[in-house]
Amino acid sequence: AIERTLSIIKPDATKRNLTGKINAKFEEAGLRIVAQKRIQLTMDQAGKFYEVHKERPFYGELCEFMASEPVVVQVLEGEGAIAKNREVMGATNPAEADEGTIRKEYALSVGENSVHGSDAPETAAEEISFFFSGLEIVG
Ligand code: CMP
Repeated sequence: AIERTLSIIKPDATKRNLTGKINAKFEEAGLRIVAQKRIQLTMDQAGKFYEVHKERPFYGELCEFMASEPVVVQVLEGEGAIAKNREVMGATNPAEADEGTIRKEYALSVGENSVHGSDAPETAAEEISFFFSGLEIVG
């Protein structure tokens, strides 16, 4: 089925001017960028977005990192987009990511791992509506 997923190009990647290279990976995989904006998250917004990780030891560090520099938030659309995006991103930890994936090529560490992608249909819907109104998504 055609799905939509929420993607974030994280501060380590925007800082190194990798937005275009990362977008090329998505497009080469058949994902369409149907919404996209560059924003600077506040600590509060980052905290809210990553609320499910609130109890994790890395939560504070994660939120500070996500608020440290601009991010590019985007909606990717395509056949099986959620799983496909996760494939293109590679494993969370770049040391475990497959050859050719975004995280293998660009991520610096498990925290500074260049991209975020929704992990399931329910979270994709929630995460998309966190950043975008229906009017901003043009398929
Ligand atoms: P992401 O897909 O954005 O979802 C939660 C993020 O937490 C994850 O990617 C990682 O970047 C980050 N994360 C996971 N484990 C650690 C860790 N041990 N230290 C710092 N950040 C982490």
